[in-house]
Amino acid sequence: MHFYQGFWCLTFVFQGIISFQTHFEAHDTDILLASLPKTGTTWLKSLLYTITNRENLSKNHPLHTKNPHELVLQLDLNEPDVIAQVPSPRLFATHVPYSSLPDSIKTSNCRIVYVCRNPLDTFVSSWHYFLQFEISKETKPNEELMEEYLGKYSKGVSPYGPHDDHVLGYWKESIQNPEKVFFLEYEGLKTEPHAHLIRLAEFLGFPFSKDEENDNVVDEIIDLCSIKSLKEMEVNKSGKWFPWVENKYLFRKGEVGDWINYLTPSMAKQFHPMQEKLKKAGFSS
Ligand code: A3P
Repeated sequence: MHFYQGFWCLTFVFQGIISFQTHFEAHDTDILLASLPKTGTTWLKSLLYTITNRENLSKNHPLHTKNPHELVLQLDLNEPDVIAQVPSPRLFATHVPYSSLPDSIKTSNCRIVYVCRNPLDTFVSSWHYFLQFEISKETKPNEELMEEYLGKYSKGVSPYGPHDDHVLGYWKESIQNPEKVFFLEYEGLKTEPHAHLIRLAEFLGFPFSKDEENDNVVDEIIDLCSIKSLKEMEVNKSGKWFPWVENKYLFRKGEVGDWINYLTPSMAKQFHPMQEKLKKAGFSS
């Protein structure tokens, strides 16, 4: 990884980030999802896409045949000419911290939705996900390796991290500018999806009508985008996002508090300084 503009950047995305910063011109109607890896990006992509494309929620809905990452392109992973072909109103995603976003995103009227997640669950999710790329078939994941990853993650050395700085950058902006940045917590969305979806749709400028609420459209979207439903779709069982990324690895458990099954109390304690910093900033997750 490279330390660039105050955040850690994986070598294979470095060029993509620079290209995004240099070439991307936001439109006023754009919607941008921002997140750290493993905090619910795939879930939010499916929700944002479905809220803004909900005329037909039947088996013909694009989520049945396309992975959410095909429907909402990652700005830091795609070439400018591919991005330029996306028709308006455009929906994109990025992992880049707020401070490093291109100026046109900050100065235009485009909207940003940010999702954050408990750092311990995010770490455990990252650990399982990145194991596929980091460990050869012969090497088994072991506690020593996990301690090494955890030591780095909790000290801020993680893709697009430090985790706390990333969260606080968007959190502060959402407080100063709530019409611009909508801040969501993975945990809150899990426990109260209905209320969150109503607020989210309003923020996006796609509010649910009374008729839609009566027809249970909100619950239909929640069900369609649930991990259970997405996992069962053939495209997510056998398809690939990139030649080296199988879609099935994007859907693991999707649970809150799963870290308890993997981390010892002393491992969890290493996250205390990060959690303290978040708390001091008025943030409780
Ligand atoms: P776990 O590894 O804890 O299960 P990202 O999409 O940012 O890579 O985040 C991946 C995490 O979100 C994984 O968490 C994954 O299982 C979970 N996830 C994926 N789709 C989801 C969905 N529809 N609802 C809730 N969680 C989901």
